[in-house]
Amino acid sequence: VPLTALNTFGLVARARRLATLSDEAQLPALLADDDFRHGPRLLLGGGSNLLLTHTEVNASVLRIATQGIRLLADDGEQVQVEAAAGESWHGFVRHTLQHGWFGLENLSLIPGTVGASPIQNIGAYGVEVKDRLHSLRALSLDDGQMHEFAAGDCAFAYRDSLFKQQAGRWLVLAVRFTLSRRAAVQIDYGELRQDLAEHGVSAPTPLEVSDAVMRVRQRKLPDPAELGNAGSFFKNPVVDAAHAAALLAQWPDLPHYPQADGRVKLAAGWLIDRAGWKGRRLGPAGVHARQALVLVNHGGATGADIVALAEAIAADVRQRYGVALEAEPVRV
Ligand code: EPU
Repeated sequence: VPLTALNTFGLVARARRLATLSDEAQLPALLADDDFRHGPRLLLGGGSNLLLTHTEVNASVLRIATQGIRLLADDGEQVQVEAAAGESWHGFVRHTLQHGWFGLENLSLIPGTVGASPIQNIGAYGVEVKDRLHSLRALSLDDGQMHEFAAGDCAFAYRDSLFKQQAGRWLVLAVRFTLSRRAAVQIDYGELRQDLAEHGVSAPTPLEVSDAVMRVRQRKLPDPAELGNAGSFFKNPVVDAAHAAALLAQWPDLPHYPQADGRVKLAAGWLIDRAGWKGRRLGPAGVHARQALVLVNHGGATGADIVALAEAIAADVRQRYGVALEAEPVRV
């Protein structure tokens, strides 16, 4: 079964078996399936944070496509909304905004599904999914039991969670969010504020923030439908204060964000850009021309092509700045 259309990188790969979960009523049969239960498996949402490193994927692949959005509670100030794992993330975000449920506007236009959102704790423009997530329901493929997780049980960190750590074990089925009927927009992020100012919006509504986020993303990030990619390919690295100070002495304009623990997060995109990689190509794999943190498939790339480029970039960044880059997408 070809997987090329099922990963946003558009990487050439095939799996020996692919099933689609469109209804939770299919779960008992799935759990009774020995090959799926005990063999290697790959759980797929939108395939937008995935790096298929081999052209033959030795796993049974399950594409999660369950649908449904429900309002669970509403006290006039806050609402609790549940979405099925297979819902489109961006579709869900716009649905909440249209209903006057605010809080997810900064996370507009992130590719992928609702079920994948907690796995890497998606984040953008100062908001992470963990900040809005109430709880979730997941099936353990180890013991076949349904489990409930409160937000505090998920080991959320920057682009990380328990579910990413224990890859393949947890089938996230439904995610609940606490949203607000009162707008409290967060527009600290420079480019967002700038876009709103350019559009003459001084006191933006959440829907206007969502529109601005969409414009900012469309300017910088390639549309996977046109140019295969998996968003930021590397995480922004966190270094100790002394290392950051040494780098800043040499490169005063290096964007840096002090962390609560005293360490400093650096902009990987800037490091890669200043190392001269922006727009460069290695065979069919390339560095995006408008955002150096995004690797792209110019057509026909395999996972090995992307890995070769990523390794060349990481080696160069290590040599120039002494900084180790860690890939963001899940490698299979
Ligand atoms: N920069 C450059 N050159 C580049 C790219 C960036 O100089 O080619 C500089 C920018 O000018 C800016 C700084 O680096 O000063 C940071 O860049 P940007 O604001 O574009 O954000 P980022 O750190 O590259 C992160 C997230 C994005 C998220 C944005 C906005 C990670 C790995 N990436 O990118 O998330 O949308 O912030 O919040 O944390 C993703 O995870 O897939 C993703 C797109």
